Amino acid sequence: MSHLRILHFSDVHLPFPPGFFRTGEMLHPKRMIALVNFVLRRSGKYARGVQKLNGLADFLRREPVDYLLYTGDSLNQGLECEYMQAARRLAEVICLARRGGLAVPGNHDYYTSGAMAHYRRYMAPVLPSTDLPDATTESGFPLVRFMENSAVAIALNSSVPHVPFWDSSGRLDDAELASLGRLLKQERIVGRKHIFLMTHYPFLDTDALHGLRNSQPLFQLLKGHSNVVLLHGHNHRIYVRQAPELDIPVYCAGSLTKEGAESFWLFELFGGGLNPRQGVWKNARFVLRDPEAVEE
Ligand SMILES: [Fe+2]
Ligand SMILES: [Fe+2]
Repeated sequence: MSHLRILHFSDVHLPFPPGFFRTGEMLHPKRMIALVNFVLRRSGKYARGVQKLNGLADFLRREPVDYLLYTGDSLNQGLECEYMQAARRLAEVICLARRGGLAVPGNHDYYTSGAMAHYRRYMAPVLPSTDLPDATTESGFPLVRFMENSAVAIALNSSVPHVPFWDSSGRLDDAELASLGRLLKQERIVGRKHIFLMTHYPFLDTDALHGLRNSQPLFQLLKGHSNVVLLHGHNHRIYVRQAPELDIPVYCAGSLTKEGAESFWLFELFGGGLNPRQGVWKNARFVLRDPEAVEE
């Protein structure tokens, strides 16, 4: 029986590169207003983001995994100079997975419509592509990754560039949901032991300004699919919950880089189980917590 190791991480929020404030893109009103909020409330918590990302690379060399699943928020404001730095750094980590992976953008990556164009230009080419190009819609998603014979990952985008900086809610695209519905009718998808369905926004959080606004159509599609595992980021705190009615697990990876709360999930697929372990930052490196120490 195959024994797959799958690592899910999220919300890297790499620090701004030097001189970012001198770029013309910073004159965008949303960025100018949000920068004050960022400097006052956030920047100190993610200042050592590069060290933590390098720490993940170090972990992957010590304890190799087969697939990396990344649920976005690499940046802060989706600037071109941020993308130029982050694309290279993330590519260096993603390539350490033995067999590949999948990634989706977060709301800080899709900060403005211009930032979406940067994602397509800089990030998409260095991130893993899909195994099923016919399932991809105009948005560039869903992406599909077959993981041996036992599992498959499907990535949906839920990040939307809103004008007000305080609106950080997400929405699933109708065309992507329709494509997912078609995928969930295929035996090569539903016949696997585990279907990892990933997006940036929290599936169970429907808050109008911070959550996923339209999770209900998705939950309708997932009814009867007890082999689905939901993965997301956006909330910078690691946890696992059960989706009511569906009775399937929902994992939030938290933030890889948030000072004092650095985290990821490692799933070891054997015996039909997921066997989840939490990655934590301890003594300047990532290690795995004891299996019985998983937080609920
Ligand atoms: Fe985030
Ligand atoms: Fe986010």
